[in-house]
Amino acid sequence: MFEQPSFLPPFLRPTVVPVRGAVVLVTGAGSGIGALVARGAAARGAKAVLLWDIDEDAANRVAADIVAAGVSARVWSVDVASTTSVKDAGAGVLEEFSRVDILVNCAGIVTGKYFDELNDTDVRRTFEVNTFSLYRCTRPFLPGMIARDKGSVVTIASAAGLVGVSRQTDYSASKFAAIGFTESLRSELRHRGSRVHTLVAAPYYVDTGMFDGVRTKIPALLPILDPRRVAEQVLDAVEKGQQRKVMPVFANAVMALKVLPVPVLDWITDLFGVSSTMDHFVGRKVKDPGRGLRATGR
Ligand SMILES: NC(=O)c1ccc[n+]([C@@H]2O[C@H](COP(=O)([O-])OP(=O)(O)OC[C@H]3O[C@@H](n4cnc5c(N)ncnc54)[C@H](O)[C@@H]3O)[C@@H](O)[C@H]2O)c1
Repeated sequence: MFEQPSFLPPFLRPTVVPVRGAVVLVTGAGSGIGALVARGAAARGAKAVLLWDIDEDAANRVAADIVAAGVSARVWSVDVASTTSVKDAGAGVLEEFSRVDILVNCAGIVTGKYFDELNDTDVRRTFEVNTFSLYRCTRPFLPGMIARDKGSVVTIASAAGLVGVSRQTDYSASKFAAIGFTESLRSELRHRGSRVHTLVAAPYYVDTGMFDGVRTKIPALLPILDPRRVAEQVLDAVEKGQQRKVMPVFANAVMALKVLPVPVLDWITDLFGVSSTMDHFVGRKVKDPGRGLRATGR
């Protein structure tokens, strides 16, 4: 566990949120980063790990491992794109556990389509799952955190929320919005004098299958990330009270580069191959009854 540094002035002192003893809820906990955050929280001594996923079987498999390791885990079959589904599950969680200490908004999808291949349904679904879900899933649990003046709301956004990328007009926009959501929530909580913590995580590509086929031009600076390391860094950030985690560290450069004229910025991002990362994207193929194989983002 990480200690609160006492030498810092109060406004610089991070709000550390220990995982040990916490009720941790993870959306998208059936796979990838969400599954690893759920397992990691259990390994760090969470009191209970609550797993929300549209893929109940996948979440059940993760929960079974957590329970086998001696930690309480509970699965809800939830479509974060549905207000009713989230409302019902949120009420169920509060009835059974009375609180959530750490909420990790991780569920996400990607289409990987060019702008002219996207229809309104694609764009709406991307925003429902990646962005509007943040409002739905945070709503049931934030009032309790504010009342107790502790807790953490974590948003797994993306480096695509810092810079636009070809074949991501829907995904990147939904992640820019996710970063805006978390930054505004942070401002609002601070303005109200609340010590509730927020964290926005913005990883570059992560090797979970979601972005299968993507390529990185300069892996020494912008590697495809190991999902176990990303999950650990997210939990470390919560426990250290960090509020923004861009991974890898080099990806932070994009924020500084935005002061440059756009053609220069574009030239540099092209130099690092950012615009061509999606050229060979296939995404994760899943079985879809009636439609054969499709990418997860549909
Ligand atoms: N993989 C990457 O390269 C990468 C990079 C940056 C950010 N991210 C973000 O990290 C998060 C996790 O991604 P991942 O790589 O672990 O993907 P993943 O596909 O392995 O996991 C996503 C999980 O979300 C669940 N999910 C999808 N739609 C849902 C819905 N409507 N309701 C409930 N659950 C739903 C899926 O069933 C799955 O278990 C996403 O928000 C993603 O955008 C991923």
